[in-house]
Amino acid sequence: METQQSEKKYENINVEKSESLVGIVRLNRPIGMNALSSSLMKELLEALNELDADDEVRCIVVTGGDKIFSAGADIKEMSNIGTIDALKRGNLDYFDNIRKITKPIIAAINGYCLGGGLELAMACDILIGGENSKLGQPEINIGIMPGAGGTQRLTRAVGKYKAMDLILSGRLIGAKEAYDAGLLSRVVPDESVLIEAKRLASEISSKSPLAARVAKECVLKAFDTTLKDGLEFERRNFYLLLGSEDKEEGMKAFTEKRKASFKGR
Ligand code: CAA
Repeated sequence: METQQSEKKYENINVEKSESLVGIVRLNRPIGMNALSSSLMKELLEALNELDADDEVRCIVVTGGDKIFSAGADIKEMSNIGTIDALKRGNLDYFDNIRKITKPIIAAINGYCLGGGLELAMACDILIGGENSKLGQPEINIGIMPGAGGTQRLTRAVGKYKAMDLILSGRLIGAKEAYDAGLLSRVVPDESVLIEAKRLASEISSKSPLAARVAKECVLKAFDTTLKDGLEFERRNFYLLLGSEDKEEGMKAFTEKRKASFKGR
C-alpha cells in the first residue's frame, strides 16, 4: 500500500495517508514505551481531528508500531501531578474527544497494551491484536485505578466479573484470553497486525463513508441508551441513509452486477 507522510511534523507521533483512503497514526515515543504523556495525547487528538476532517481519508488506524502499543499513562509525568493540577490540565478529556471522531478507527496492537494504552484502544472501534500482545489495566499495582474509561468500557466489553478480575488484580492477559473475552475483534500473527489493520481499513474505506459513519454512531449509541431509544435512533438513521446518493449507487451497482463507487453523499 503506497503511503504519504503528513506535512505536519509531530514530536510524539507519525501520521501517514494511503492511496486507499486510510489514515495511519503511529505512536512514536520509544523511550517511555509509548507512554501517553500530555503532549502525545494533544498531538494524537490533533491528528485524529485532522484525519476526521480530511476527505481523502475514510478510515483511521492507530498503532504503536511492531513492538509495543502503549504502556499507559506516563507514570513519571503523573507522579508529579496532584488532584487540582490534573483537574486543571484535563488530560483525560482527550479520551472523551476520541469518541467524537466520526470515522471508524482501528487499533492495531502489538506487545503491551496497558492502562491508558488499553483505554485508548478501547476508545477505538475495532481492536486487532498480535498473538503475543499483552493487555491489562494494571493501575491498581501503582495505587490508582483506570481513569480514562477502563472501568466503563472494559466492563461493557467483557462483563462485570471479568472486568473486576482484571481491574482488581491488575493482571495482564494474552491475546487469546482477550479475544475469548470479547476484548479483541481479531487475533493475527504479530507480524501481520498492521497489514491486517490496513487491509481492513481499506475494505471499510471502499464502502459508503456515510453508511459507515452512521453505523458507527448507532453502535456507540448502544452504550449510552435504552434498547427502546437505541432502536428508534437506529431506525431514523436507517431512513436517513435511504435518501443518500450512496444508497442509489449501492443498489444500482448490485442490480448491474458491478462494484459500487461510493462518494459519501
Ligand atoms: N510511564 C512512564 N514510563 C514507563 C511506563 C509508563 N507507563 N511504562 C514503562 N515505562 C518506562 C520504564 O520506566 C523504563 O524506563 P527506564 O528505562 O528509564 O527505566 C522503560 O519504560 C522500560 O520499562 P521496564 O524496564 O519496566 O520494561 P519491562 O519490559 O521490564 O516491563 C512493562 C514493561 C510491563 C510495560 C512495565 O514497564 C510496566 O509495568 N509499566 C507500567 C504499566 C502501567 O502501570 N500502566 C498504567 C499506567 S497508569 C494509567 O494508564 C492511568 C490511566 O488509566 C489513565
